[in-house]
Amino acid sequence: MWMKNRLFQKLGGGRLERFGLGLWSSLQLTALKSRKDQEIVALLQEIRRAGRSLCSAFELYLIYSAARAQSRRPGAMAEVGVYRGASARLICKAKGDKLLRLFDTYEGLPESSKEDRGVHKKSQYACSLEDVQAYVNGFANVHFHKGLFPDSAEGVEENEYCFCHFDVDLYEGTKACLEYFYPRMVSGGIMISHDYGLLAGVEQAFQEFFADKPEGIIDMPTTQCMVVKL
Ligand SMILES: C[S@@+](CC[C@H](N)C(=O)[O-])C[C@H]1O[C@@H](n2cnc3c(N)ncnc32)[C@H](O)[C@@H]1O
Repeated sequence: MWMKNRLFQKLGGGRLERFGLGLWSSLQLTALKSRKDQEIVALLQEIRRAGRSLCSAFELYLIYSAARAQSRRPGAMAEVGVYRGASARLICKAKGDKLLRLFDTYEGLPESSKEDRGVHKKSQYACSLEDVQAYVNGFANVHFHKGLFPDSAEGVEENEYCFCHFDVDLYEGTKACLEYFYPRMVSGGIMISHDYGLLAGVEQAFQEFFADKPEGIIDMPTTQCMVVKL
């Protein structure tokens, strides 16, 4: 875990990381192009070209595909960690007329804790709520919750979710997502988190939370993990 973070720190979440991710995603897009829905591949291409996402093409595809599969189940959808709206736009495309709640400070990352091993800086990934609203304009039933999660969920009455995407980068935020959403997931509901295979704090939050739960954590070949609620 320590090694993973050292490497990530060197890349710095900056230009080098974006360059590597861009290159990696181009290869992935070529693979997807040969066997997946061309409309979705074109959308992935557009998102990647616009430089809006910190997820690879395979990661974005998985989010889309899981959200689409869940769109026929009861319950709402949510994302915590929206940044510039790339993954949110894909969930919008997949969700049909379902309610989608999008949680973000829209002012970047909060303070990290010791579990995060100093990888990120406060306010990193600051973005604009208005920009994200414009980017997902045209999709119905999308609600924006600006502020620090889980405080920003105060007053939200939904008690049933069928799909949640977490992408908050930090231990405390990931723990808060699991504590809030796990009891609200319908049976068969899917939770996906970015960076489980990359960031020590995210992995630790999942490991601790699911230590006494019946569900297993599915470690994906991307940086993501997935849990299906029993
Ligand atoms: C890596 S970015 C999300 C990337 C995005 N999903 C994409 O498609 O590229 C992480 C985001 O999480 C948000 N964030 C982290 N912790 C948070 C918390 N506790 N409450 C609200 N937003 C948080 C940050 O503001 C930032 O926009």
